[in-house]
Amino acid sequence: MNATVGRPIAHDSALGHATGAARFADDLPEPPGLLHGALVLSPVAHGRLDALDIPDLPGVVRVIAAADIIGPNDISGSGKAGEPLLTDGVLRHHGQPIALVLAETRDAALRAAQAIKPAITPLPALLDPEEALAREDYLMPPQIITRGDVPEAFAAAPRIAEGRFQAGGQEHFYLESQIALAVPGEDGEIAVTSSTQHPTEVQHIVARILGCDYNRVPVTCRRMGGGFGGKESNASWIAAAAALGARLTGRPVKLRPPRKADMAATGKRHPFLFRWKASFDAAGRILALEATLAADGGHSLDLTPGVVFRALTHALNCYDVPAVRLTALALRTNTVSHTAFRGFGGPQGVLLMEDVIRGVARATGLPPETVRERNFAGGGNGTHTPYGQALEGDLIRRVWAECRDDARWDDRRAEIAAFNASHPYLRRGLGSFVLAFGISFGVRHLNQAGALVHVYADGSIRLNHGGTEMGQGLNVKIAQVVAETFGVPLDRVRITATSTAEVPNTSPTAASTGSDLNGWAAHLAATTIRTRMAEVAAALWDVPADAVCFAEDRAFVDRPGDNRAMGFGELAHRCWIERVSLSATGFYRTPDIHWDPVAMTGEPFFYFSYGASVAEVVVDTLTGEHRVLRADLVQDCGRSLNPAIDRGQIEGAFVQGMGWLTCEELVWDAEGRQRTLGPSTYKIPGSRDVPPSFNVRLLSDAPARSDTIFRSKAVGEPPLMLATAVWNALRDATGVERLDLPATPDRILRALRGSSRSQSGGITGSGDDLRRN
Ligand code: MTE
Ligand code: HPA
Ligand code: MOS
Repeated sequence: MNATVGRPIAHDSALGHATGAARFADDLPEPPGLLHGALVLSPVAHGRLDALDIPDLPGVVRVIAAADIIGPNDISGSGKAGEPLLTDGVLRHHGQPIALVLAETRDAALRAAQAIKPAITPLPALLDPEEALAREDYLMPPQIITRGDVPEAFAAAPRIAEGRFQAGGQEHFYLESQIALAVPGEDGEIAVTSSTQHPTEVQHIVARILGCDYNRVPVTCRRMGGGFGGKESNASWIAAAAALGARLTGRPVKLRPPRKADMAATGKRHPFLFRWKASFDAAGRILALEATLAADGGHSLDLTPGVVFRALTHALNCYDVPAVRLTALALRTNTVSHTAFRGFGGPQGVLLMEDVIRGVARATGLPPETVRERNFAGGGNGTHTPYGQALEGDLIRRVWAECRDDARWDDRRAEIAAFNASHPYLRRGLGSFVLAFGISFGVRHLNQAGALVHVYADGSIRLNHGGTEMGQGLNVKIAQVVAETFGVPLDRVRITATSTAEVPNTSPTAASTGSDLNGWAAHLAATTIRTRMAEVAAALWDVPADAVCFAEDRAFVDRPGDNRAMGFGELAHRCWIERVSLSATGFYRTPDIHWDPVAMTGEPFFYFSYGASVAEVVVDTLTGEHRVLRADLVQDCGRSLNPAIDRGQIEGAFVQGMGWLTCEELVWDAEGRQRTLGPSTYKIPGSRDVPPSFNVRLLSDAPARSDTIFRSKAVGEPPLMLATAVWNALRDATGVERLDLPATPDRILRALRGSSRSQSGGITGSGDDLRRN
């Protein structure tokens, strides 16, 4: 019919992003009297703050410390975790905020923050997650999922394999670093502009720190220059610091930490340690699995419980193992508190079975792909996750079969073998991966959304919803949904900034649910208005309301031989004259999901997103350097709302996943100082790292539940995990047994040389004290 939904439509800000016309928080005109903030950060990983002497510094208006905080000094989402905004006297990680400097210029603020030298007594720091694991130093009790009789399964086991490995963290490296602007208004109101995925949490935490009601804190976000999970919780304390400054001085305050401070003070993807033991038969069927997944949570809880939950529920990925015992731990270390990052523990969780599959393949002499296929859920194997939710075995097999065909798997295996036999030191390798990723927030109450739609008397439409735009194309998708619902062209719909004053009590834009949740809410709001408009037209034409249809920018009577019709704008005007409301809210909550936290069973996900990938790499065995030469991806997006946007998400996520697994390495030194605080030492993938042959395909005729919005499926996070094929390809090329992540050139070289320190230790010589995560 109209088809705005399902069409490859450009991002609404594509031109604005490219030309610079799109305004980010730092581009807004600065209000008169603006003060600039800068943070004084802890120079130690653990210590006691003895004194904070403030020298007289040029341009400085005020320096704020914990004692100046009006409400509770707690920035945790729950408000109960006691995570301080500014140190309460104990320093728990390098880069922890100690004080906020406010000055007339940003330069003056930054210079002053550097000049302040707090008196600190250093304390012994717990830096190594292995040590935290040995000491059982946890941030929360272990989470355990079990199924079947595991001891019995091991006692009867035909064969047993074991393994251990680790995966590092990841810095978000959003191009726009964290920023907030707080402007004091009348009667104690503080208006906040924040680069945040979670305006409602910004509102809550600002209000807590200021000791005021939520209704005094309107929060706005037009767009972020990337979030990737890094602005789900961390944006809140940046905004709270700015708001506190604004309240205490009565002047507007902007806080935009430089990249280095942003990297030091905000959390990253959780590094993980893995241990496993599996029993299997000669055919490669895995019969029992016992595994521990230990996340380094850093010094405080933040979103770690949710990350650990997702790692645990994704540890078997799309595979069936009859008897399992999976234990997930949250280790406490004197490191920055790790947080949400695209995939939210899922990417770490799905690594487990990849290592098990390789271990079983090695022990049985079968190709890893055969072991993979024999252990897929469904098709004779079990059909349910160990926590009790059904997986669609057909889709798992379909994405894999199609991807394997796209990649010409068998031919290329032979080509690669021939290449390797002929080259003295380059080795090519082929790796695969298959994914089932659960869509919904692990926390039940976050699975809700609201929208506010106005139709004006000229038929133009204003759309507001609870989701935030971070580059992922959420706004254009929701605008497509609204245009489709009214049967009008997309340019009738005006996209507006997310605001807690327009749609309250929102969830973070996270867990890939942005378009699922807000799409439904906006559709429901638009449907309410359309129904009222249909009634006005029906009365005019003397037909039943359900005979009035909307398409091609018109309302018309949908009956053979009846040509009566009216422009959408004309009908809107008529509704106004007839005193009919053209404004409505929509509200949606995800049906059916449930979880029993005691039994650790339930159906926490509305549905699963499926995908498969094949990657080819070449490794220089003399240097350890490597490249991804080709990648073939098949991603299930249901009936995509916008295939152009979804393709961009798949490409970007894959390359971001490659970065995590191959080149992005966080290094802390023996004192717990981060040594990788900028692009010169922390390497994210660049345009030349994109595979030269990059074949991305959306699964065609993809089935989805009938009750997803226009039968679409989420896409934001799942394709990041498809990069796991690169890890497998590197192991295929090198033949090494254990390859910790990120698989940097030096780590590959050490693994190839079989060095005993290859997996845990430092680089060389003076670098030996560097702890790598
Ligand atoms: N894409 C861009 N360009 N920038 C981002 O920050 N964040 C990712 C993903 N895609 C991100 C992105 C993450 S972590 C999530 S959870 C989803 O987008 C959130 O948006 P969605 O729910 O609308 O997909
Ligand atoms: N994903 C991302 N963010 C979240 C989640 C999740 O599953 N749960 C709570 N915050
Ligand atoms: Mo995405 S990690 O859920 O913000």
